[in-house]
Amino acid sequence: MKQINGPKTSHLIQEFQWIADPVDYMNTCARKYGDIFGTRIGAGCRNLIFTSHPEAIQYILTHDTKELTAPGSVNGILKPLVGDKSVILLEDKAHRRQRKLLMPPFHGERMFNYGQLICDLTRKVGDRWEVGKPFRARDSMQEISLAVILQAVFGVYEGTRYDRLKELTGNLSKVVDSPLSASLLFFPFLQQDLGAWSPWGRFRRLRQEIDELLFEEIEERRQHPDETRTDILSLMMAARDEDGQPMTNEELRDELLTLLFAGHETTATAMAWSLYWVNRLPEVRDRLLSELATLPPNADPMTIYRLPYLSAICQESLRIYPVAMITFPRVTTQPVELMGYHLEPGTTVVGCIYLLHRNPSIYPEPEQFKPERFLERKYSPYEYLPFGSGSRQCIGMALAQYEMKLTLATVMLNYELAWADSKPPKASRRGVTLAARGGIPMVLKGRRSRPEKSVEVAAVS
Ligand code: HEM
Repeated sequence: MKQINGPKTSHLIQEFQWIADPVDYMNTCARKYGDIFGTRIGAGCRNLIFTSHPEAIQYILTHDTKELTAPGSVNGILKPLVGDKSVILLEDKAHRRQRKLLMPPFHGERMFNYGQLICDLTRKVGDRWEVGKPFRARDSMQEISLAVILQAVFGVYEGTRYDRLKELTGNLSKVVDSPLSASLLFFPFLQQDLGAWSPWGRFRRLRQEIDELLFEEIEERRQHPDETRTDILSLMMAARDEDGQPMTNEELRDELLTLLFAGHETTATAMAWSLYWVNRLPEVRDRLLSELATLPPNADPMTIYRLPYLSAICQESLRIYPVAMITFPRVTTQPVELMGYHLEPGTTVVGCIYLLHRNPSIYPEPEQFKPERFLERKYSPYEYLPFGSGSRQCIGMALAQYEMKLTLATVMLNYELAWADSKPPKASRRGVTLAARGGIPMVLKGRRSRPEKSVEVAAVS
């Protein structure tokens, strides 16, 4: 039986390296120890095993309700953001029940109805860009993804509560957006409320204000029920468990916060990366523009969604810099043989998405952005894994891909952008995700003069 190796430095040093420069930490470990290594990171689980071998990943994710589990308790780092009744912190039966409730609005026709909304919001944000004035692509993309979540998930449209929620959410994200400030999540001992100006004090006050707004919205809906509403909050409020009980206000709030944070930050980062690559590499941009030129006037969102090269760009963006670097942890419940290694019961393992996506035997020249690899080859779900798999696979996977493609297409059809930096951005920690340091500066060179009719996207009825 082989021995799992890994760095021997202390928990504190490894945790610090993982927070400060996760890419360097993963690459260094992979270089020294290969595609399975043991680390001393992760609050509560001081012995966290990383694997980036597709076979090992397939095993842990397809057995995560058998020889392994996907416990919510090991995701405690996210509790301050999403609350303890969030689907992310639930496990077993309660977890399965909550997923069943949350999944339908993120699939099929219900989700595709958000197409027009996404295109309109993109135009609204893009129309505010001024020619020659640099802006940060990630900020613009976050404005779009936040508005999509607030409108599609919360069903909260323009108005005072919408504006306030937008502002507070943006501010809350900022509290943990750098490697240094993200330490607040990783080290519970830093979570000290020393007044409104201390980082944790500020975080808590913002969370409290957001809670109040969400409770107000929930209470208003209870007072004035409207069966015609199709947003996800309305569907959650209408749902009943096996005993006929509705979700409590606290459960509703935690699930809203979960969708808000799991959904808008990640998608904004992914969209900003895809804008970067398209505007960085002229051959990619030109090929995309040629493909978009084949669209009929008033192309509907589904036609755009199915464009092969556009899809390949979005896939390649999520390959080269997967926003989620690792899957949620899985824990063995009995002795497991994994690729010739013996894992004792209670061992915590994550699939390392970043290293898997950089494996040169699966992706030749992994550092190169090559969308065509997705046109030339079909990858298995355990070779390409930006949204995880198994019992905790991302609930918003379809929405995120839909949003990425429609936003990128709408931007490229309507605006001529240029990347406004000289050095490639460094991939760096933003909360628990991987984003581009500096937010990807862009500049508007001009608006594209396609006839208005052909750039507007028709609604799916
Ligand atoms: C590009 C954008 C996104 C990426 C890369 C991403 C990635 C992921 C990954 C890797 C996981 C863990 C999967 C696993 O452990 O097997 C996850 C879980 C999750 N994601 Fe996403 N996600 C994105 C967007 C979204 C959106 C738009 C939503 C909802 C609006 C969302 C909601 C969730 C939830 C609720 C979970 C936890 C599921 C559970 O605990 O059962 N995500 N996501």
